[in-house]
Amino acid sequence: GGYQSAVFAAGGSPFPFTVEGLVEAAREALPSRTFAYIAGGAGRERTVAANEEAFARWGLTYRILRDGRPADTSCTILDTPMSLPVMLAPAGVAELAHPEAEKAAAEAAAAVGVVQVLSSASSTPLEEVARAAPEGRRWFQFAWPDDGSLARSLLERAEKAGYTAVVLQGDCHVAGWRTRELDTGFFPFGRGHGLGNYLSDPRFRELAGLSQEPSPEPARALGPAEVRAAAVAWNRYYTRPALAPGDLELLRSWTDLPLAVKGVCRADEAVRLRDAGADALIVSNHGGRQLDSGPAALDCLPLVAEAVGDQIPVLFDSGVRTGTDVLIALALGASAVMIGRPWLYGLATGGRAGVEHVLRCLETEFTGALTLTGHQRPDSLSPADLTLLPAIP
Ligand code: FNR
Repeated sequence: GGYQSAVFAAGGSPFPFTVEGLVEAAREALPSRTFAYIAGGAGRERTVAANEEAFARWGLTYRILRDGRPADTSCTILDTPMSLPVMLAPAGVAELAHPEAEKAAAEAAAAVGVVQVLSSASSTPLEEVARAAPEGRRWFQFAWPDDGSLARSLLERAEKAGYTAVVLQGDCHVAGWRTRELDTGFFPFGRGHGLGNYLSDPRFRELAGLSQEPSPEPARALGPAEVRAAAVAWNRYYTRPALAPGDLELLRSWTDLPLAVKGVCRADEAVRLRDAGADALIVSNHGGRQLDSGPAALDCLPLVAEAVGDQIPVLFDSGVRTGTDVLIALALGASAVMIGRPWLYGLATGGRAGVEHVLRCLETEFTGALTLTGHQRPDSLSPADLTLLPAIP
């Protein structure tokens, strides 16, 4: 594959290739409380662990003496073409990992041809992220604010800036019990981080009692009293505590963009959301950051895919670390996957180049594994490609 050849020709890479090496590099690059914020999850982090371990129960087998040409990994989901069925999951406050934050991620995603899903809690305003990589593809993750004007303002801005789908965050109506964060006492939003989309929004500034001149460097330009006011307003308006599937209709009247709902873990919920008009569902347990003691997200994927997968695209995140993980998720019914922590670790380790490295590794391993298992395109993967491995005692 291309990336291997390039690495060997260059005599190596400054970035680690093992999953563990990448985590360690990020740990070394970051202050301990920041690393704790990114790596950590809810409660005892059983779900965080389960998410990754679930992949180890599935085996892939070769099909041999087949077409050895590189597989074509391109696909189109919700009318957005992409070179690979892998996306950057929305993650707030990327400035904690690197000052270039979501702009560096946007450039890396555009270079590889993958979709960046921008968090509503991004450090950088959504327009600025779009300008950093105008040729890139992007979706907007929407946390439904408890103020209709703010909601519509965010959606209008995203549509105008070229985001081509809305990802409704479904699982953050309550704050996760994040034990590592509690141990460090560090909650980024309380310090004015992750408010890029809000501080650049006239309606939010009105709600927070801030002046009406959004500065180019909003968070950094605020005094301590304004940071406090912004953090209080964010906490108050960030997300509506109660949402029902019927609300999707309202959301639809506010935007023409296709709508994916993120955080689905049950077949009955999947049916309810499809009936309510969702254009796609994302199976996710938020990387184990919200509810502990849950099953691995991967164990929820076949249930959701069986319930609605032949009608609307089902996407997946939580625990994807390698190219073969991508293959397993696709074989279990996902049209595409998203990665969360891995791109943040890449960003922490090497900015734009670090994120691109993470994506190139996934791309190359995935493409090779697809060919080795006898496929020329990702959409021919099915459960027949998998074998359940014997339990490890
Ligand atoms: C997240 N995630 C997330 N999701 C979302 O919808 N909006 C957000 O603002 C954030 N913020 C966020 C911050 C950090 C630091 C992490 C690690 C994650 C969840 C994210 O989109 C995704 O669901 C998980 O990260 C997927 O799990 P993995 O790949 O991290 O195991």
